[in-house]
Amino acid sequence: MSRRVAIIGPGRVGGLLAVAFSRAGYRVVAVAGGTAGSRAAITADVAGVRDLAAPADAAALADLLVLTVPDDAIAAVTRDLVRADALGEHQRVIHVAGSVGLDVLDLARRAGAGVAACHPAMTVPVGARDPEVLHGSAWAVTAPDAARGWAHGLVQDLGGDPVDVPDGARVLYHAGLALGSNAVGAAVAAARQTLLAAGIRTPERFLAPLAAASVANVLRDGASALTGPVVRGDAGTIERHLQALQADLPHLADTYRRLTAAVLAQTGSALDPAAAARLKTLLDEA
Ligand SMILES: NC(=O)c1ccc[n+]([C@@H]2O[C@H](COP(=O)([O-])OP(=O)(O)OC[C@H]3O[C@@H](n4cnc5c(N)ncnc54)[C@H](OP(=O)(O)O)[C@@H]3O)[C@@H](O)[C@H]2O)c1
Repeated sequence: MSRRVAIIGPGRVGGLLAVAFSRAGYRVVAVAGGTAGSRAAITADVAGVRDLAAPADAAALADLLVLTVPDDAIAAVTRDLVRADALGEHQRVIHVAGSVGLDVLDLARRAGAGVAACHPAMTVPVGARDPEVLHGSAWAVTAPDAARGWAHGLVQDLGGDPVDVPDGARVLYHAGLALGSNAVGAAVAAARQTLLAAGIRTPERFLAPLAAASVANVLRDGASALTGPVVRGDAGTIERHLQALQADLPHLADTYRRLTAAVLAQTGSALDPAAAARLKTLLDEA
């Protein structure tokens, strides 16, 4: 059951999962949706995959449909599959979006298909094809009771670590991931630009071990592991940082102010109230 896979949505995740399912012993029988160029980029990488424009044609060949379209398109693609009478009890349908749950698959469920939302908590850039990136990564699984077993099973087949996330918690779950990946990435990008402006040609020599240690410490102990001028109440240092950024990288001054305010929000309660107020005034200044 569910060994013949159709990928609907030939983008970043669709391409990676086509290779990952294939390596895991599934038969990836078709790739559908998107543009001809996107589909061709996947059929070139996975042997035996049919290139089909219409998702309903792919569904006719598969018992597992993997919807890797943009989040906002999942419900419409599902609706179109049901309208084309392309889904039935012998099939399973998953999507891989983090912030949506089972609502968007409801029509497939009503058509008799098994449904699950299985989100890999991993960033997948354009052209990523190495399934190793999924090995050991956690996947947020939301599934009706009858589907939980097979949903966990397929995540494990891909080397992932399935974790049940209640349907109503997925938006908050996804907000947490956005903070832990995109927001951290934006902070590191700003740090990298600042070190380059300071004449340091290889910022990664400083940032890689430092950022890794900071993240590891906070994951272990929470915000109490944070260090630096905010935690020390060292307003003079922060003022000098802001002056230097304003002079050399004015477009980053506001980023610094907001990120430093986020540090204060996490740690300020441990500061002397007067020191916390001074920092807040400094960081609030336009
Ligand atoms: N990228 C990540 O890091 C990541 C990580 C975890 C989960 N996800 C989830 O994976 C899903 C896909 O994201 P992605 O980053 O792979 O997006 P993507 O690269 O933009 O790929 C989406 C694909 O779907 C196609 N498509 C768009 N609308 C469609 C429709 N109505 N019918 C059929 N195909 C359609 C697009 O076609 P064209 O080729 O013509 O544009 C494209 O090939 C999303 O649910 C996302 O939340 C992404």
